[in-house]
Amino acid sequence: MHILLTGGTGLIGRALCRQWGQQGHQLTVWSRTPEKVASLCGEQVRGVGVLDEVGMQSVDAVINLAGAPIADRPWTRKRKQLLWASRITLTEQLLAWLQQRQQRPRVLISGSAIGWYGDGGERELDEGSGQITDDFGAQLCGAWEETAQRAEALGIRVVLIRTGLVLSTEGGFLTRLLPPFRFGLGGRVGDGRQWMSWIHIADQIALIDYLLQQEQASGPYNACAPQPVRNAEFASALGRVLHRPTLLPAPAFILRLAFGEMAGLLLGGQRAQPARLLEAGFRFRFTDLDAALADLLGRH
Ligand SMILES: NC(=O)c1ccc[n+]([C@@H]2O[C@H](COP(=O)([O-])OP(=O)(O)OC[C@H]3O[C@@H](n4cnc5c(N)ncnc54)[C@H](OP(=O)(O)O)[C@@H]3O)[C@@H](O)[C@H]2O)c1
Repeated sequence: MHILLTGGTGLIGRALCRQWGQQGHQLTVWSRTPEKVASLCGEQVRGVGVLDEVGMQSVDAVINLAGAPIADRPWTRKRKQLLWASRITLTEQLLAWLQQRQQRPRVLISGSAIGWYGDGGERELDEGSGQITDDFGAQLCGAWEETAQRAEALGIRVVLIRTGLVLSTEGGFLTRLLPPFRFGLGGRVGDGRQWMSWIHIADQIALIDYLLQQEQASGPYNACAPQPVRNAEFASALGRVLHRPTLLPAPAFILRLAFGEMAGLLLGGQRAQPARLLEAGFRFRFTDLDAALADLLGRH
């Protein structure tokens, strides 16, 4: 299969390239730095700086994951514009390119996040749930999904991946938590009751591959393990695996002062269920947080 990726140089994209490269698929990554693609994604992966470089060659599937990091810095007006443009404008460009092509892929798998639901509080959220709050993260995911969904009118199957917190030691949320937790400076955030829907990177890759192959799969899928935990439980689990105390809470008012509106990402949460993946027959390798963390951090 010839698979075109956006965001292929990112945490999830690199892992997908590794897996699909080993399986012999032909891979092209649309990147702002195409010259770095081979070193980041694998020697056999081609980087293109503009989509027209793909040329007449047929493309079987498109995986759309590009987007500026959401939790890297406070959401100023300028930052929000970048978060928006790097997902929605980029997806619009992808669609315009797909539209003018004679040969079109059979499937578009496009990114989103469980932040689509907003702050869900205590509610269990599956793909049948509506948006609970209308914060910036929810608006961003909503617009990203709506834009990608338009590919359906071009005869393309569209799958939307509402990703939870991806656990990996190669980047993302866990790698940021590790330094303070390793020094025994970790702890819950706010009152620690907010829900965290997490997923092991191996399951994230496996489910994207699964949905690529399931010809019937379309629409939104929550990409998170079936056992979300409260923030305080997450902190305790990480402390247990690292053999470190987790007694230092990060008070909510300090986070609000430091991060402004973005603090909502840490102080709110989602108790999401991967209902549609389970219905589709997908089997998670990691359903227990301690086992997932032990696997990643090498303590069994
Ligand atoms: N990891 C998670 O826990 C998580 C959770 C929920 C949702 N997601 C979403 O899933 C997608 C993939 O996640 P990830 O963790 O693999 O992301 P990532 O490591 O941050 O990589 C995203 C990719 O997006 C591209 N990008 C970054 N800034 C950009 C900009 N300003 N304009 C255009 N492209 C830009 C980059 O590709 P180039 O440098 O090659 O252009 C980068 O490799 C992201 O959109 C993310 O928001 C991730």
